[in-house]
Amino acid sequence: MGKLVVHGGVRLNGSVRISGAKNAALPILAATILLDEPVLIHNVPDLLDVRTMMEILESIGFNVRFEKNTIWVKPSASLKGQVPYEPVRKMRASFNVLGPLAVKCGEASVSLPGGCSIGVRPVDFHLEGLRKLGFSIDVEHGVVKAKREKRLGECYVYFPFPSVGATEHIMITAALLDGTRTIIENAAMEPEIVDLANFLVSCGAKILGAGSRRIEIEGVDRLRSCEHSIIPDRIEAGTYAIAAAATRGKVLLQNVRPDHMMAAIEALNQSGAQIKIDGNNLLVQMNERPKPLKLQVAPYPGFPTDLQPQMIAYLSVADGTSVIVETVFKSRFQHVDELRRLGLKAELTDGTAIVYGVERLQGTIVKATDLRAAAALVIAGLMAEGTTIIEEVDQIFRGYEDLTLKLSKLSAIVEYENG
Ligand code: EPZ
Repeated sequence: MGKLVVHGGVRLNGSVRISGAKNAALPILAATILLDEPVLIHNVPDLLDVRTMMEILESIGFNVRFEKNTIWVKPSASLKGQVPYEPVRKMRASFNVLGPLAVKCGEASVSLPGGCSIGVRPVDFHLEGLRKLGFSIDVEHGVVKAKREKRLGECYVYFPFPSVGATEHIMITAALLDGTRTIIENAAMEPEIVDLANFLVSCGAKILGAGSRRIEIEGVDRLRSCEHSIIPDRIEAGTYAIAAAATRGKVLLQNVRPDHMMAAIEALNQSGAQIKIDGNNLLVQMNERPKPLKLQVAPYPGFPTDLQPQMIAYLSVADGTSVIVETVFKSRFQHVDELRRLGLKAELTDGTAIVYGVERLQGTIVKATDLRAAAALVIAGLMAEGTTIIEEVDQIFRGYEDLTLKLSKLSAIVEYENG
């Protein structure tokens, strides 16, 4: 495991090009399992998680090539219906291959995703959804087997919470259920779901309503080849925007979709940052201590949980007390303990963080507990006096392409050291 050494006190300055969205690329790659013809996917970020999904596709017999942010996927005529445990253990998003693989092979087995450092993450909505689509589900020794038992004319799937992964999993699976009309109620509305639907529609799927709480899918018997470009990563963009404001810098974010980032833009605005939107560019500038915020984290279009750790790092030096209520992953606060080492003053009570702003943070040795926690520690390190060493930092490369290069171009002084 490597370390990131961050020398604090430098204002970020310059421009940064935002990569394609990890959380759109992963379900789109899972959806390629449904195809009989090759596809080209552009603007794919070169990240550990994308490499893991490629490994899964190869393990079931696909031919995959990745060059300069473009992936070429060539399906196999003889698919294997079993996915090895190792990649599923590494990445929860790999569970979304179960449904499409079961459609193509008649039945498929995938291990249950392993424990997760951002809290309990069950898959009950996925399994119940697949049952509603006519699959039988057996869970034995940590392996889930899905088998297509019935061909239904119409299915209704209702999610008790608008789960991103379950919405994607059911939408992908339903796309190739020929003769079946599926209606998903209380679907997640994240932009990554719209991108996945656009990809599937380009391949010939019939999907209406992606981006709303109700999605309707008319299953087809075949999906064809297409070319697709992944949307910009709103979480990577939000992280650089927060880092710019946190260091009281001035940064131009290029290749972004500001319309996907309104909750984050609004929060930064309220904290005193100046934000200018110009097409696909976003300029973030900040000259003062942030004002404290009352912030509720919620499913899209609410403030994203994947920016909550970074926001806590930023508000640690606010001029007053902030309250952050997490409603998506209620125990996603592992970063708080590490940020405390740098001087954060905060209390945690039942899904809420109360952050008492301090004048400044002080660099020290900390440990990254998960991907976004690592991003929060980088932001805190950039703001802090002196040097911060972030241990076990490699998880950050699951979600941030060329992180050290991009930060260096913005004048940050950061060095990655192999462990
Ligand atoms: C996706 O995870 C993202 N991952 C996460 O990004 C993100 O934090 C999360 O959505 C919320 O926005 C990908 O897109 C690959 P959920 P997902 O199902 O789909 C509960 C990052 O840092 N739930 O929307 O796994 C669940 O426990 C990551 O990039 C069930 O109870 O999240 C949570 O409380 C990490 N049963 C809530 O729903 C289920 O079967 C939302 O989870 C499924 C979910």
